[in-house]
Amino acid sequence: MIQINNLSKIYSGGEQEVMALKDVNLTVNQGEIFGIIGLSGAGKSTLIRCINMLEEPTTGNILINGQDVTLMNNQELRQLRQKIGMIFQHFNLLSSRTVFDNVIFPLEIAGIPEKKARQKVVELLELVGLSDKARVYPEQLSGGQKQRVGIARALANEPFLLLSDEATSALDPQTTRSILKLLKDINRQLGLTILLITHDMNVIKDACDRVAVIDNSRIVEVGDVLSIFSNPGTPTSRSFINTIINKEIPEEILHRSVADNGSTASRLIRVSFIGTSAGEPLMSTMLQKYNVKANILYGNIDRVKDTPFGNLTLELIGTLDLINEAMDFLRESGLEIEVLEND
Ligand SMILES: Nc1ncnc2c1ncn2[C@@H]1O[C@H](COP(=O)(O)OP(=O)(O)OP(=O)(O)O)[C@@H](O)[C@H]1O
Ligand SMILES: [Mg+2]
Repeated sequence: MIQINNLSKIYSGGEQEVMALKDVNLTVNQGEIFGIIGLSGAGKSTLIRCINMLEEPTTGNILINGQDVTLMNNQELRQLRQKIGMIFQHFNLLSSRTVFDNVIFPLEIAGIPEKKARQKVVELLELVGLSDKARVYPEQLSGGQKQRVGIARALANEPFLLLSDEATSALDPQTTRSILKLLKDINRQLGLTILLITHDMNVIKDACDRVAVIDNSRIVEVGDVLSIFSNPGTPTSRSFINTIINKEIPEEILHRSVADNGSTASRLIRVSFIGTSAGEPLMSTMLQKYNVKANILYGNIDRVKDTPFGNLTLELIGTLDLINEAMDFLRESGLEIEVLEND
C-alpha cells in the first residue's frame, strides 16, 4: 500500500541544514497497523508528513497504491489527502464548532450533499461512542472524548489510510488503551490501514502488527512486533523494550548466590521465552533429567497480541558439568539463555 524508497529530507530554511530523514526504505501493507517508534527529534513527524506531502521529500519517492505522490500535482494531492485521515496529539478540533459540526467539516469541504453528510456524521459518532455528545463543544469533553471526535472526523471521507501522530501521547494509560482499542476495532471493521507513530513502546505492544524503529533520522530495524520484542536487533530497540519490560535483576538477588565450592557450583541464568510451549514443562524436564537444583529468583511475563513472552531468572546448583548440560538442553529446546554475573 505504501512503499517508501530512499527517502531523505533536509530542512534548509533556518540557519543550518537539518537532516531529518536519511535514506528511509519502508513498506506498509494493506490492512495492517504499522507502528513507528523513535525518540523526540528522530524524524517521525517528518516521515508521516512526507507521506501525504505536507513536507516535500528532498530525495526519494513514495508510492501509495502504486502512485508516486512526489509526482502529483496540487489537484491530485488534494484528492489523495481527502482519502488519508490524520489524527494528532492535541486533537486539533475547532473550538467554535460543536462535536457534530467538527465531524461534518471535512464532508462540507469535500462537497458532500448535506443530508448524506449528516447521516454519515450520525454513523461516525455512533462508531466512536459519542452519539450523546453531538451538540456539545470540544472544551466540554475529556481528552479521550476529544480524540474520539478527532478519529470520527478523520474517518469522515472514508479514508483508505489513517495516519496517527502521537494520538495518545496526551492521554492517561487507561484512556490510551481505550483509544487504541477503538483504532484496532476500526482497523478490523473497516479494513483500514493505520500508520501510527509514537515514542511509547506500550502503544506498539498493544496495537501494532509490525514496527519500525527510527533513530537519528534512519530506520534501524523493521519487523513484526513479537520478534522485535523477543529479540531486538539494535541497542535502540532494546532500550525501548526495556522501558516496559523489567529485565533488571534486583541487586540483592544478584549478590546472594552460592559461591562455587568443589563439586557444587551455581550459575545465575536468565531464560527468555516466547509462546506457551516454552514455560514450565521444559523446566521440570530439565530438573529431572540433569540432577541440578533450581531456585526461581525472579520472573516476569507479558503479552504481545495473544502470545506470552517473558523471562525467568534461575540459580542452577549442581556440578558444573551438569549445569552446562542443563543449559544446553534449554537452548536446544529453543529458549534463550543468558548467564548472568555470578559473584
Ligand atoms: N519545519 C522544520 N524546519 C526545520 N527543522 C525541522 C522542521 N521540522 C522538524 N525539524 C527538525 O527535524 C528533526 C526531526 O523532527 P520531527 O518533528 O520529524 O521529529 P519527531 O520524531 O516527530 O519528534 P517528536 O517526538 O518530538 O515529535 C528535528 O531535528 C527537528 O528539529
Ligand atoms: Mg513529532
